[in-house]
Amino acid sequence: MKAIRIHEYGGPEVLFIDEVPVPEPGKDEVLVRVHATSVNPVDWKIREGLRKEKFPSKLPLTIGWDVSGVVEQVGEKVSNFRKGDEVYGRPDPTKNGAYAEYIVVKASLLSVKPLGIGHTEAAAVPLAGLTAWQGLFDHGLLKEGQKVLIHAAAGGVGSYAVQFAKSKGAYVIGTASDQNIEFLKRLGADEVIDYNMESFEMRLNDIDLVLDTIGGDTQLKSIEVLKPGGRLITTLAAEFTTEAKAKNVHLIAYVVQSIPAQLAEIAKMIDAGKVKPIIDQVLPFTDARKAHMSIEGGHTRGKIVLQVI
Ligand SMILES: NC(=O)c1ccc[n+]([C@@H]2O[C@H](COP(=O)([O-])OP(=O)(O)OC[C@H]3O[C@@H](n4cnc5c(N)ncnc54)[C@H](OP(=O)(O)O)[C@@H]3O)[C@@H](O)[C@H]2O)c1
Repeated sequence: MKAIRIHEYGGPEVLFIDEVPVPEPGKDEVLVRVHATSVNPVDWKIREGLRKEKFPSKLPLTIGWDVSGVVEQVGEKVSNFRKGDEVYGRPDPTKNGAYAEYIVVKASLLSVKPLGIGHTEAAAVPLAGLTAWQGLFDHGLLKEGQKVLIHAAAGGVGSYAVQFAKSKGAYVIGTASDQNIEFLKRLGADEVIDYNMESFEMRLNDIDLVLDTIGGDTQLKSIEVLKPGGRLITTLAAEFTTEAKAKNVHLIAYVVQSIPAQLAEIAKMIDAGKVKPIIDQVLPFTDARKAHMSIEGGHTRGKIVLQVI
């Protein structure tokens, strides 16, 4: 089978299309025929060797930690899936990923794919969708009627966060550049701040929750807009713990977890028409280098999908 692998860390040029054997599922694993995968910033960070401590893995390594596909074979201890099931999920980032024709994944990490969308769209959901969900609800404790500020609202994580927060009945404020303002209003944001034109910390105060996917100055300034006891949840490092403490704000950094029950909830919302994956572009998976150059630019609207079949 074909797999897009790295043999050394480096730029997009270290991604190669290799011919490798189809992997064998272990007792608690399933073999999935990958239909589509999607691209996340962690893909290029792992490719560059920047995540060796967080996600230790061996080279050569197949990149890609989103999958939507069909179960081809199940391990002897797997009871929740059968051959032919349509599944989606976020595979273990310390193991070979899904830029490949087949992947083995622990059955406990997968969920039934949303029925109302195809694999191309479903592959855009797991990693970014789970990150948005866990940031808002598990760590952010978002409740109906609260005010949430979502940075990079037009990105992979942000575009789900806007939709989830809106469905919860929150008042949603997003930051984006001018090209994404109308898009985010259509997606459900109540207010959008053009970060090139306006300082969000000048406009906002009394915010219950900030979801930070930018870090640095954005994280520091987010402390100012929160109400006392408010929550600043970041997908990056918690850089300003002292400043947060001084303002009586909870600053929490987190790493997304693969939780199939949450993927099942998200699938229900998608099938009910409450949430839709936003797809920036679909490329053949053999164009992974091009996809990486694109995501590294930092201005993807929604997700980049890699189509396998
Ligand atoms: N901790 C975890 O488990 C976890 C999980 C997922 C993601 N992450 C991290 O979270 C970050 C975001 O991930 P993602 O998938 O959402 O990335 P992404 O899709 O690449 O984000 C792109 C978006 O960022 C926006 N943007 C860029 N600069 C901005 C700024 N200064 N202010 C506001 N928006 C800005 C862009 O909007 P414009 O084009 O309008 O500028 C674009 O829509 C990444 O660093 C990723 O590695 C961590």
